[in-house]
Amino acid sequence: MSAVPALGDEPRHGLRHLAIIMDGNGRWAKRRHMPRVLGHQRGVEAVRRTVRAAAELGLSALTLYAFSTENWRRPEDEVSALMGLLKHFILSDLDEFAANNIRLKIIGDTSAFSSEIIGLIDHARSRTADNTGMVMTVALNYGSQDEIARAARAAAAKGEITAEAISAELDTADLPPLDLIIRTSGEVRLSNFLMWQAAYAEMLFLDVLWPDFGREHLEAAIEEYARRERRFGGR
Ligand code: IPE
Ligand code: IPE
Ligand code: MG
Repeated sequence: MSAVPALGDEPRHGLRHLAIIMDGNGRWAKRRHMPRVLGHQRGVEAVRRTVRAAAELGLSALTLYAFSTENWRRPEDEVSALMGLLKHFILSDLDEFAANNIRLKIIGDTSAFSSEIIGLIDHARSRTADNTGMVMTVALNYGSQDEIARAARAAAAKGEITAEAISAELDTADLPPLDLIIRTSGEVRLSNFLMWQAAYAEMLFLDVLWPDFGREHLEAAIEEYARRERRFGGR
C-alpha cells in the first residue's frame, strides 16, 4: 500500500466522504449455485480491495453498510455466518489498518452483538484511535431511523430540537459531510442507510454485485462524482 494521505489533504477529485451499500452477495452466490455465505465471503474480499483503494485515492472517510437493523430478519444461520465473517475480518485485517494509519469507527447499536464481538470491536477501535488517515466506518446493526430517533432524544435531553442539534448527535457527527453514496446490485433504494446525511449527497446505483466490486469501479465512481454539479439548493 502506498503512503496514505493524512486527513485534511484535499484530493483533486473533491470526494472526501463516500458511503457504500454493499449489496448483492446473495445473488452473486446464487448465480454460481453456491451457498449465500460464499457470496458474503467474497464480499469481504471486496471490502479489503475497496478500503485499500479508497485510502490510496485520498478519501478522508469510507462508510460501509455491513449489517442493517432489518438484517436480523434473515435466517439464523445466515446471521451467524455474517457475525463469524465480521469477527474473522477484524482479527485478520486489523494489523493492516493500524499499519496504514486507518481509524476504525463503528456506527449503529452494537449492544445487540455478542460480548466477544463487542470486545473485538472495542479493541479495534482503541488500537486505531490515534490514527490520522482515512476513517473507515462500519455500520453494524445500523438503521437510519434508529439513529435519527437516538439523536433526537439526545438533542431533546439538551433542550434543543433543531436540525443542527440533531446533526450534532448523529453517529456520523465527527465525519466530513457525506459526498457520495454508492449502492451495488442494481437496487435503487437506501434501505434505511444514512437518510439524514444523504440530504444533499450524490448517489450512484451500479449494476455490479458487491463481490465483483473493485478498484476500477471505485475509480470510475470518483470520476463520475467529479463530473457532478452540486448546488445545495443555491444556483
Ligand atoms: C449484502 O448482500 C450483504 C448484507 C446485507 C449483509 P445480500 O445478502 O443482501 O445479497 P442479495 O441482495 O441477497 O443479493
Ligand atoms: C442493505 O441491503 C443492507 C446492507 C447492505 C447491509 P439489504 O439487502 O438488506 O436491503 P434490501 O432488503 O434489499 O432493501
Ligand atoms: Mg440485499
